[in-house]
Amino acid sequence: MSAEEVLQKLSQESPLTSTQLAQRLNCDHQKIVGSIKSLECLGDVISSKLETIKKWQLTQEGEMVAKDGSHEAIVFYLVPTAGIPQAELMKAAGSVGKVGFSKAMSAGWITLDKTAVPPLVRRKVESVQDTTQVNLAAICSQGGDVVAEKEKVELKKRKLVQEITEKIYILEKGSNFTTSITKAETDLTPEMISSGDWKNISFKPYNFDALGVSPDGGTLHPLLKVRSEYRQIFLEMGFTEMPTNNFVESSFWNFDSLFQPQQHPARDAHDTFFISDPSTTTLTNQEYVEKVSEIHSRGGFGSQGYGYDWKTEEAAKNLLRTHTTAVSARMLHKLAQQDVFTPQKYFSIDRVFRNETLDATHLAEFHQIEGVIVDYGLTLGDLIGVLYQFFQKLGIHQLRFKPAYNPYTEPSMEIFSYHAGLGKWVEIGNSGIFRPEMLLPMGLPDNVRAIAWGLSLERPTMIKYGIDNIRDLVGHKVNLKMVKENPLCRI
Ligand code: PHE
Repeated sequence: MSAEEVLQKLSQESPLTSTQLAQRLNCDHQKIVGSIKSLECLGDVISSKLETIKKWQLTQEGEMVAKDGSHEAIVFYLVPTAGIPQAELMKAAGSVGKVGFSKAMSAGWITLDKTAVPPLVRRKVESVQDTTQVNLAAICSQGGDVVAEKEKVELKKRKLVQEITEKIYILEKGSNFTTSITKAETDLTPEMISSGDWKNISFKPYNFDALGVSPDGGTLHPLLKVRSEYRQIFLEMGFTEMPTNNFVESSFWNFDSLFQPQQHPARDAHDTFFISDPSTTTLTNQEYVEKVSEIHSRGGFGSQGYGYDWKTEEAAKNLLRTHTTAVSARMLHKLAQQDVFTPQKYFSIDRVFRNETLDATHLAEFHQIEGVIVDYGLTLGDLIGVLYQFFQKLGIHQLRFKPAYNPYTEPSMEIFSYHAGLGKWVEIGNSGIFRPEMLLPMGLPDNVRAIAWGLSLERPTMIKYGIDNIRDLVGHKVNLKMVKENPLCRI
């Protein structure tokens, strides 16, 4: 049954009710209602009016009576002309016996002859008219109207019929009536506008009552939430964000410019992901490359260098950056190209890659948070002071520093904070003052110092969100429900 068939019927006969249609098309009423609903959306092809009507319907017992006769009639016909003992009659009548006997008695169809031994039930009339059965059959085939109200009430009392309310539609042809449906367009396209077709097209009207699809996207991953909090802290402290949009970096900026010797173990393929295609890049700033080569192999600015044969080919190797300090190096070099030096505060939060053994807390990629301040005459005291200020904004008040080694900073300090939950001091970052061997070849004035620190984004995120396995935070095993439902980050 299609909506078109409904229109077909309506073109022959109008108005029509949905129940009539269900009869004519020999299908379920609910299906007709569905077709009416979709026809209503076409814009006055049909006009429909909803009405509630009351209807008489036979109960299950009523259906039986309509077929086999009323209880009293069954009892009557079981009584032979010679009469029958009551007990025998009741046995023969079975479940309809009790009601049938009393109804037949009060109708005057049968009588109980107590003079006989045992007493006999006898017919009192020759034949009977089973109006109960007749009425029920009439209601069943023609509806309740053909039977008088009083009789229906009686049938209802006997639970042979029930009154039900039904919602039906009364359909008429609408002003745009047609028997062939053209599907209404749902979208206005640029083509319709340019060709002018839109003027003749019928569009589906908006359904402002539709609930719509609840939007499924747009959830921030916990790492991004924590990142935006850190970013906020840096911005509050007057830092500018560095451009970190290149994951592929040259060894030159990742290591050499940072005065990390070419034999340093971190430059091994066991620790660093080198790119195989293209495996190398062209180092463009020849003058600066020359200065880096000089400081590594022969020293300068009061430093004796490392005294080895620095090779451009090694520096030209492409890799996935192992730290965002590569970005800081590029920025400091750029800053050094200014005619007049201006102090700066920079930060970055982005992805870095290391060829690490994977475990519950380490992946081959993670995010680094890095801060750099470059100004005249900065000291270790400034670094410690800034670190206290920075971590205080994160709610961390107790700090300790441990001397460390980085090829590009001197002095260098690991940063520890007291973790009340764990009841111990945990390492939270690394820091230091960039070496003159890094800053002076760039061309920065020699009384300019740069203090810097770095930490991972993953560790504070895992602590904040109570995640103890990094694989629950990053990678293909992450539960998207966790991402959708985790709370806002407030530090
Ligand atoms: N680059 C260091 C690391 O990867 C962090 C650091 C940044 C250390 C700046 C000192 C200064 O761990």
